[in-house]
Amino acid sequence: MENFDWKNLGFGYHDTDYNVRCCYRDGKWGELETHTDPNVTMSMAATCLHYGQESFEGLKAFTGKSGDIRIFRPDENAKRMQRSAEYIRMVAPPTDLFVEAVKKAVDLNRRFVPPYGTGASLYIRPLLIGTGAQVGVNPSNEYLFLVFVTPVGPYFKSGFGPIDVIVDRDHDRAAPLGTGHVKVGGNYAASLESNHLAHKKGFSTVLFLDAAERKYIDECGAANFFAIRGNSYITPVSHSILPSITNLSIQQLALDMGLAIEARRVELAELPSFDECGNCGTAAVLTPIARIVDETNNKVYEFAKDGKAGKITTQLYEKYRAIQLGEAPDIHHWIVTI
Ligand SMILES: Cc1ncc(COP(=O)(O)O)c(C=O)c1O
Repeated sequence: MENFDWKNLGFGYHDTDYNVRCCYRDGKWGELETHTDPNVTMSMAATCLHYGQESFEGLKAFTGKSGDIRIFRPDENAKRMQRSAEYIRMVAPPTDLFVEAVKKAVDLNRRFVPPYGTGASLYIRPLLIGTGAQVGVNPSNEYLFLVFVTPVGPYFKSGFGPIDVIVDRDHDRAAPLGTGHVKVGGNYAASLESNHLAHKKGFSTVLFLDAAERKYIDECGAANFFAIRGNSYITPVSHSILPSITNLSIQQLALDMGLAIEARRVELAELPSFDECGNCGTAAVLTPIARIVDETNNKVYEFAKDGKAGKITTQLYEKYRAIQLGEAPDIHHWIVTI
């Protein structure tokens, strides 16, 4: 077992022992390869460098209560990478290859999987890049699929403590407009300035609004937004929101708890009617929101007033974590163990 200060680990990159790679060449995928070198060598004319022909995924592995290593829903990440790849005309690895590579990368780096009870996890980053040389704006005919892992702690310093969020009316998380439903690098580059400005003002993250009207809630940083009103779990739907696997899973848990699901357009003007708000994602897990500040309209929306997450957010968080950590039965078959 690697000797990290697991309980105080932040969300950052650490070198591990191995990464796993597979090349697509001459119309087919090759064998899975194991590498120790974290560097990638490619042509300076590779399409990923010029045209952003790149997609990435993010998922986690955990040490369960009984000591097993548990990967959360890798098949869903495989499917999302396939959708992203289609959007930018890349060849994506089939689901079996994707899951096999993820399992292998985790297995080879077992000593970096944080122990049970530390709150840390092994973040898994599958990456697909166009490596073929082009100078015309054309798709590559060669691709590299790579999986690396890194141990991480909480994404927000607050852990499960409520965060403050600022409404951004000047930037979109995804650029160009309307491509937020795919997980491609350019969408994230477009969000860097917005996050930088939010952090400078002391906020944990940003609430992005729809690009056309700045009227509807889009996403909350690199995570989906959700709210609780009475017996309903409410979450925005639009073409510019990345379909979050965490959100999908939480909606199932909400249904199991007897909540109604409202997946629909959500107006910013609805905020005062919500009992609880939060964001959710692989990195963010479920993070309650304390305050949403809309500077343009001089408005502050407050939730979690006593500094604690609301009752339903807490219940959803606990159920979700219990399945990931093997403290509750995996009734929906979300876990792949190695
Ligand atoms: C923009 C964005 N939205 C939402 C999410 C949450 O998605 P998931 O729950 O699949 O991690 C992510 C996570 O990567 C993200 O980057």
